[in-house]
Amino acid sequence: MEAALALIGEDLINVELQFKKDLESDVPLIRKVGEYVLASGGKRIRPALLLLSAKLCGYTGTRNVALASVIEFIHTATLLHDDVVDNANLRRGIASANTLWGNEASVLVGDFLFSKSFSLMVADGDLNILKILSGATTIIAEGEVLQLICTSDLNLTLERYVEVVKAKTAILLSAACQAGAVLGQASPRHEAALKEFGMDLGIAFQLMDDTLDYVASEEQFGKSIGHDLEEGKITLPLIHTLERCTAEERKQIGAIIEKDLLEDHDFSTVLQLVEKYDGINHTVAVANEFVTRCKSHLEVFPTSPEKDALLGLAEYVLTRVK
Ligand code: IPE
Ligand code: IPE
Ligand code: MG
Ligand code: MG
Repeated sequence: MEAALALIGEDLINVELQFKKDLESDVPLIRKVGEYVLASGGKRIRPALLLLSAKLCGYTGTRNVALASVIEFIHTATLLHDDVVDNANLRRGIASANTLWGNEASVLVGDFLFSKSFSLMVADGDLNILKILSGATTIIAEGEVLQLICTSDLNLTLERYVEVVKAKTAILLSAACQAGAVLGQASPRHEAALKEFGMDLGIAFQLMDDTLDYVASEEQFGKSIGHDLEEGKITLPLIHTLERCTAEERKQIGAIIEKDLLEDHDFSTVLQLVEKYDGINHTVAVANEFVTRCKSHLEVFPTSPEKDALLGLAEYVLTRVK
């Protein structure tokens, strides 16, 4: 992370300014909700990926900041919608927008951010980048719907879970890297490498998120622990457990998943089973494999500070606590 910041720190500051400018609207509630979410921080990992990828491919122009801001706009829109769908009350350590302003405002401001992203991409004028980013937003929507269909499904397979993860999360990290490559006029080989790098990194990122949902400290993570379980989201730690536990334990898990509200002891029961069958360690090991794979995609690039920073970001995903 530090290596990345040293290289693109100034650009990232400009991304914040650009983001704020792009939020301008005559409707005060849009600015209010938008600025609230913006000011609450966030790791800015997607803009960082776009900026570093572009730099890795030799880009020296000025379009990078606006496009990095667009990708954070898209991400923010998905978060606003996702927290409504997931009934989440906590985001980045503070009350989520839906908690403060209600579901209607969150959905509508999310829509504003989405449509604004498209205007900004059109203003940039690169049809290739428009194609990559608009394609990614379509797939995210599909991923969120796919996940909805999989709710409470105790028979969810690893394959289907990874399909959801790629669509709801990894595609946007992949698109960020690929858009950076296009910006830097990379060769098709280099563009494909960055696209794959982002995809495998994105899968690892979500696997770790799903692990943190079980074992993080709420204060550091900034999101409620055990919330996936409460929402009937079956993620890899639980899939791994369900594939190994006894029929009796499976019944116990099933009954807890069906509940609308979990008591502390419900979550502890499931967490104990997840730990008994090594679901956390297994998920971290799988995330590790995806990080190794994502790093290998960068072998086509010669050594450079940008490449090192991207490799460092990949490692960071495995150790993050928020
Ligand atoms: C949260 O993404 C949504 C997931 C894909 C897990 P981040 O963890 O990147 O969220 P912020 O922007 O840093 O808060
Ligand atoms: C994030 O999935 C996917 C999108 C925001 C599209 P999660 O639902 O797991 O993310 P968090 O845990 O709410 O950040
Ligand atoms: Mg969520
Ligand atoms: Mg999550």
